[in-house]
Amino acid sequence: MPDLFSLRREYSMGALSFDDLDRNPVHQFQKWFEQICMSGMPDPTSMIFSSCGRDMRPSARILLLKEFSDEGFSFFSHYQSRKGSQIQENPYGSMLFAWHFLERQVRIEGKIEKQSEKKSDQYFENRPVTSRIGAWTSPQSQEIPSRAFLEEREKEFTRQFKPDAIPRPPGWGGYILRPDRFEFWQGRESRLHDRFEYRLEGGKWKIVRLAP
Ligand SMILES: Cc1cc2nc3c(=O)[nH]c(=O)nc-3n(C[C@H](O)[C@H](O)[C@H](O)COP(=O)(O)O)c2cc1C
Repeated sequence: MPDLFSLRREYSMGALSFDDLDRNPVHQFQKWFEQICMSGMPDPTSMIFSSCGRDMRPSARILLLKEFSDEGFSFFSHYQSRKGSQIQENPYGSMLFAWHFLERQVRIEGKIEKQSEKKSDQYFENRPVTSRIGAWTSPQSQEIPSRAFLEEREKEFTRQFKPDAIPRPPGWGGYILRPDRFEFWQGRESRLHDRFEYRLEGGKWKIVRLAP
């Protein structure tokens, strides 16, 4: 077992200054996103999504980002899952992209809405057959008796649907987070990291530097 107290390293791969930043945070995200995709880091679209229901207890899990634009940042999931219930109770959430390969993190916060049925259908139709069957098979976040329960359901739904006619389950679809806050973090030497926050104020993005 390593000594956790002494596990640490310096961050020195880059720097971020006000002049480097695009005034539009989505464009800034795109710039960094393209760089992390080129870096060879696995799963560059994975992010930690946090939500908090009316019990005021935040919870976090990894999800895959499926689309982003000035409109917002999208992911797909089960509406009856734990996150689904939390979003229904409190439609605010946060996404954290931990881009270790470039010593960076990006935080995005905002209000969440369900995607349109059309958008959810479009994405669902794009998924491989096994994932489409999987969406029917798994009552996500519900307690289940065994693995065999899942395997039986998988067989059942595979029998029930033709591979080219698997409908989207009504309880499965997209969400879009409409950001009102971004933070771009670049690791620096001696823990004097660069942090810039974009805040949406009166329809305009205000950019401020934060202490690390
Ligand atoms: C790399 C990775 C990617 C994942 N992507 C998704 C995803 O896009 N959508 C999803 O619903 N769950 C995804 N999961 C599973 C979630 O982390 C989580 O277990 C699930 O959504 C249930 O969360 P909940 O009970 O908090 O609702 C992913 C897990 C990992 C490790």
